[in-house]
Amino acid sequence: MADSTASYSGLRFRIATPDDAPQLQPLVKSAYRDRGGWTTEADMLTDDRIDIDGVIGKIVTPDTVVLFITDDIGTLVACCELAKRSTDLAYLGMFAVDPHRQGSGIGNHVLAYVEAYCRRTWGAKRLEISVTWPRPELSRWYSRRGFRETGETRPFPYSDLAEGEALRDDLYFVIMEKELSTE
Ligand SMILES: CC(C)(COP(=O)(O)OP(=O)(O)OC[C@H]1O[C@@H](n2cnc3c(N)ncnc32)[C@H](O)[C@@H]1OP(=O)(O)O)[C@@H](O)C(=O)NCCC(=O)NCCS
Repeated sequence: MADSTASYSGLRFRIATPDDAPQLQPLVKSAYRDRGGWTTEADMLTDDRIDIDGVIGKIVTPDTVVLFITDDIGTLVACCELAKRSTDLAYLGMFAVDPHRQGSGIGNHVLAYVEAYCRRTWGAKRLEISVTWPRPELSRWYSRRGFRETGETRPFPYSDLAEGEALRDDLYFVIMEKELSTE
């Protein structure tokens, strides 16, 4: 898929390059760790969520794109990582909306764009996410958008934290999946 800019519901989407990593890392950190957002993990973790090299690593990974998402005046408002996992499965990760802009529909629009992108680019029929347990408000947000828990869980990467620490030792990931429509 070409690295073109696409517009959708007042947002602009383009594929990030390594030069974007210094802008993306603070956005991800603030979305996941600042107390301003409605889904903050600040009570569970004090780390940076990811460092700049980690963001670059995702950007240059084959069959993976990081989307750089701005508003109509070019301000970075959101990002996410998309990866082709298999013939019909895509993965959504590092999904972050600027905490000052959360709750205004941006996440919803990004998710709709992501679903269309994964279908169009990879022919994906299913989209997978991993949600840190316990984040019931976030699981409900995904449930309202058609995701269902698969029953699979994965270990939390305690040994890979970027600076900082975990404030509890019982975290893990809950895997959720959505069937993508064929429209
Ligand atoms: C999760 C996230 C991507 C959603 O983006 P967003 O722009 O905030 O979401 P939207 O504005 O599109 O959705 C608003 C929804 O949030 C709900 N919401 C807003 N404030 C809320 C609150 N305080 N408590 C619970 N729900 C709330 C609204 O009811 C609305 O839900 P509905 O449309 O189903 O009724 C964003 O909040 C984020 O970046 N969170 C931190 C990082 C993260 O957890 N990423 C996901 C990892 S799996």
